[in-house]
Amino acid sequence: MRFLKLLGCCALLASIMAAQTSTLPSWATDPQTETRIDSLLKQMTLDEKIGQLITYSQGAPTGPGTGRSNYKEMVEKGQLGSIFNLTTSDETNAMQKIAMEKSRLHIPLLFGLDIIHGFRTEFPVPLAMAATWDPAIVERAAHVAAKEASHSGVRWTYSPMVDISRDARWGRIVEGAGEDPYLGSAVAAAYIRGYQGTKLSDPESIAACTKHFVGYGAAEGGRDYNTAEISLRTLRQVYLPPFQATVQAGAASFMSAFEALNTIPASANSSTLTQVLRKEWNFQGFVTSDWNSIGELIPQGVAANHTVAAAKAFNAGVDMDMESNAYGPHLAELVKSGVVKESAVDESVRRVLRVKFGLGLFDRPYSDGKGANAIAPEDAELARKVAEESFVLLKNDGNTLPLSASGKTIALIGHLADDAQQMLGSWSAISKAGDVVTLRTALIKQAEGLRGHVIYSRGTEILTTSDKGFADAVAAAKKSDIVVLALGEDANLMTGEAGSRAHLELPGNQQQLLEAVAAAGKPVVLLVFSGRPLVLNWASQHVAAIMEVWFPGVQAGPAIADVLLGASAPSGRLTTSFPRAVGQQPLYYNHFNTGRPTRDTDLTHPPKSFAEKFMSRYVDEQNSPLYPFGYGLTYSTVSYSPTSVSSASLSAKSVNAGTEKLTVSAELKNTGGRAVDEVVQLYIRQVNTSVVRPVRELKGFQRVALAPGASQKVEFTIGRDELKFWGLDMKDQVEPAALTVWIAPDSASGKPASVAISE
Ligand code: BGC
Repeated sequence: MRFLKLLGCCALLASIMAAQTSTLPSWATDPQTETRIDSLLKQMTLDEKIGQLITYSQGAPTGPGTGRSNYKEMVEKGQLGSIFNLTTSDETNAMQKIAMEKSRLHIPLLFGLDIIHGFRTEFPVPLAMAATWDPAIVERAAHVAAKEASHSGVRWTYSPMVDISRDARWGRIVEGAGEDPYLGSAVAAAYIRGYQGTKLSDPESIAACTKHFVGYGAAEGGRDYNTAEISLRTLRQVYLPPFQATVQAGAASFMSAFEALNTIPASANSSTLTQVLRKEWNFQGFVTSDWNSIGELIPQGVAANHTVAAAKAFNAGVDMDMESNAYGPHLAELVKSGVVKESAVDESVRRVLRVKFGLGLFDRPYSDGKGANAIAPEDAELARKVAEESFVLLKNDGNTLPLSASGKTIALIGHLADDAQQMLGSWSAISKAGDVVTLRTALIKQAEGLRGHVIYSRGTEILTTSDKGFADAVAAAKKSDIVVLALGEDANLMTGEAGSRAHLELPGNQQQLLEAVAAAGKPVVLLVFSGRPLVLNWASQHVAAIMEVWFPGVQAGPAIADVLLGASAPSGRLTTSFPRAVGQQPLYYNHFNTGRPTRDTDLTHPPKSFAEKFMSRYVDEQNSPLYPFGYGLTYSTVSYSPTSVSSASLSAKSVNAGTEKLTVSAELKNTGGRAVDEVVQLYIRQVNTSVVRPVRELKGFQRVALAPGASQKVEFTIGRDELKFWGLDMKDQVEPAALTVWIAPDSASGKPASVAISE
C-alpha cells in the first residue's frame, strides 16, 4: 500500500500529462472495433468471457503444466481464447477451425510462441543483437521473424524481453539488451516496430509482448526467479524506461514477471500493472501472466490457494492467465462473490479482443498455409550481416586480425567451431540445426578460397573433465601458423531461463585447453561464444586476439569467417560490463559515486597504506571491469577531438519548458587504413543535484561509417528528455546542476566538456 502511494503521488501528475500527449496506436483507437467488441460483450456468457482470459501451452513447458489437454473441447465451448507453442500452419489452422466453426460466437484464437531472436531464420541471441547498437537492423530482423511466424499462423510473440540486467550471473541476461536503459529503450522500440510493422493488421505483422514487467533482471545473486529489491527511484530511472518505450512504440501486450519486487510479487502488483502501466502510460493492450506466475503466488506466500491467487493477480491488473489454471476454474466464483467486478472482466476481455481485431483475426483467422519451410536467401543474408555487426573485438595485439590466410595454415580448435545446434542459442523457435553453417565449414571454404589451409581439432567438449583431445589440439597448433580457438558456454544449459551461473569462467576444462594450446607458442585468436559476459582475465593477458561472438544464429560460420579473414570489420560494442571476477557482480558502468571513490590506477592489491585501504574498493581485485560498457575495437583506429558544446550554460527552467537545448559535438577521424563503422556514444554526468546521479549515463549513440582518412563531425542534441531525472520530490524533471558531457568510443574514455545548468 505504501509502495503504491509512493509510486503514485507526484508520478500521477507526470502520468496524466504523458497519457494526454502520447499518441495511441491505430489498433487501440478504431471506433468500429470498439463497437464490435461492445456487441460481442453483450452476447458473451461469463464463461466465454473468462475463456478469452486464458492461454494454455501445447507442450514445451518451462514450468509445471496445468494437467489440462482437452483444448479442443475447451475451444469448442469458448473456454480457451489463446494457445501457445503450436508452430505449423496445419496445427494452428486445425485448431482455428474449431474456434471459427464450432464455438458459439466464432471468436478466433490467438496463437503465441516465444519467437525471441527468429522463427525459422535464427538471428544472433538478443544480447548480441543489442551489441550491434543498430536499432534499424534489429527492426529488420524482428520483421523477418514476424513474416515467417505469421505464415504459420503464429501472430503473437513473447518478445521483446526488455529487462535491464546488471548481473552477468543471471542466465536471462542473454535475452535482453544489457545494462543500459537508454540503449535498452532504443532496441526495445525497434523490436516492436519490426514485429508489429506499420500496421498490426498487415498479414505479416504479429503482436509483440513486452516482458517481464518488471524488475525480473534484478534477481538477487543473479539466481533466476529470485526476489528483487529496487529503490523506487532506480525502478523509474533504470528498469521502467525500456518498458515505457515499447508502450510508446505501440506494443500490443505485456507479460507480468515472476519475481517479488520490493516484497510484492510482480504478477500481483497493482502499482506497476495498474498505476504505472495503465494510468500513467495509458497502455491499451492486455497483460498476460508469465508461465504459472499466478499459481506461484502460493509458494511466494501471498495466496493460500488458486482462488486467492486469481483474485490478487486479476485485481492487480493481469488480464490473462498463462498456465496457472487459476482464472479458468476460479474467476467466475470470484465474480459471483463480488471479489472481482464483472465490469473489470469486461475491460480485460475488451483488451484481448482489441488485439485480436487489431491483428485482423476476425476477418482472416487462418494462416495462408505457406509456413516457414526454408530460409529465404535475403533473410540468410540479413542474419549474416546482423551477426557480423554484433561481434565485439576485445583485444587485437599487433593487428593479429584480420588473418591473412594466403599460404598459411590455421588450426581451428574447439567444440563450438563445429556444433550447429549451439549456434542457435536459447529459445530457438522452429529453427533447425541443419540450416546452420558452422565455423568449421565456413572457415575451411573461405580460407581455401584464399589459398590458405585449415586443420580442425575438437580439443575438448564444453563440459567435460576428459583431456584426451588436448594432445591432438596442441599438435594441430604446432603444425600451424596461427590458432583460432572457439570456446564458450553451453547455450541451452547455461544461458536463458534457469541458466544462472555462480562461476563466470570458461566452463569445463576449456581454460586448460586454452593454456595448453597457447603454450605451443603460436599466435592465438580466442573466439568466445557466450550468452553473457565471462571472466577472461587469463586470456586478456596471454592471447593475441579475443573476439566475443555470442551465439550468432544460422549464419554463424560465414559471419565469423568474414570478420576473421577481413571481408568485414568488427563493429559491435559491449552492452554489458565484462568483469574481472564474479565477486564484482552486480557490475555496471552507470553506478553512483561513493563518498570514497577510487581510481584503479591508484590502488595496489593488497592495499599498502592506511589511506589506500579505507576506500570503496576490493582488497584483492580492481573495481573496474576488464572491458567496459560500450567497448569494442575494429580494424582501424578512430581519433576523437575533445567534446565541444554550443553553450557553457543552460537554464533548467527553459530546458524543462522545451525552449532550450544543447548541441554537443566532436570531430572524428579514421586514422587507420580501413573503412569502418564507428559507434559514437554520448555520455553525461550531473552533480550538485538533489539525489546522487550516475558517474556516467548514455544519452545518445550513432553508427558512423568512416572511409580511411575521412573526418566527420558528429553532433547530438541534449534537451529535457536527456537531462531530466527523478529527483528528491519524485518529479521527473531537469534540476540545476553541474553537467559534464563526453562524446566517446566507450563508457570509460573521452574528453569531456562542462556546462552549468542554472535555475
Ligand atoms: C518464461 C517466459 C516465456 C514463457 C512462455 C516462461 O517460463 O519466463 O519468458 O515467454 O515461459 O514460454
